[in-house]
Amino acid sequence: MSSAITIALSKGRILKETLPLLADAGIELLEDPDKSRKLIFPTTNENVNIVIIRATDVPTFVEHGAADIGVAGKDVLMEHGANGVYEPLDLNIACCKLMVAAKVDAVEPVGRIKVATKFVNIARNYFAEQGKQVDVIKLYGSMELAPLVGLADCIVDVVDTGNTLRANGLEPTEYISYVSSRLIVNKASMKTKHDILDGLIQSLSDAVERRRESVVTNK
Ligand code: ATP
Ligand code: PRP
Repeated sequence: MSSAITIALSKGRILKETLPLLADAGIELLEDPDKSRKLIFPTTNENVNIVIIRATDVPTFVEHGAADIGVAGKDVLMEHGANGVYEPLDLNIACCKLMVAAKVDAVEPVGRIKVATKFVNIARNYFAEQGKQVDVIKLYGSMELAPLVGLADCIVDVVDTGNTLRANGLEPTEYISYVSSRLIVNKASMKTKHDILDGLIQSLSDAVERRRESVVTNK
């Protein structure tokens, strides 16, 4: 790739919430990704390209240096085990909580607990810390359905407003972790492209601070 740096973002929430921060840092897409089948997008900064990939693939691209920098939820980073990347900045966007949830008033089973989730590593680690024996069932979405149809006793998923849980007769039972989106950086790129990455991290950090101040002022 000819550009000096590549940023990995995922479609949806992260793209929507990261683009204003990048714009504040002087980087804007030249094309609307919603109207394009492209995967690599040039920006107003000729040294910066943005690749748009699945949220769960962002740590992989950054770890291997296919992207120099990326934005990923803490949930995805915890699940992936993001040891191969730096995490220099909390962007304070896409904020939510990782929770255990079950049917309202459900009684925890005596033996092994069946847990449905796409976060299998997080679930295994969390229940092991609690000294609880679990069978983890991997799902790729609509986790809330699992307790309703008898597939699992509980789920591990992200919760924001709690509307999805309520709409399905579920309630949060245990808090696992706070989640927000983080900037992640490839370790080798941080050395070889130090000046441009350092400048970008500083500009994004300033943009995050300006956003935080405007949210406080408008409250
Ligand atoms: P994919 O299906 O492509 O693997 P995804 O559906 O998890 O990914 P998004 O829904 O865009 O992708 O979520 C991206 C990130 O946003 C998540 O990793 C999480 O950190 C955060 N997030 C998820 N759901 C919510 C929510 N309801 N409110 C706030 N933040 C959320
Ligand atoms: C996420 C998550 C929950 C929901 C929680 O789903 O998987 O289902 O948000 O948010 P709430 O507490 O505000 O209801 P998302 O909206 O990303 O849809 P998805 O199933 O396509 O990931």
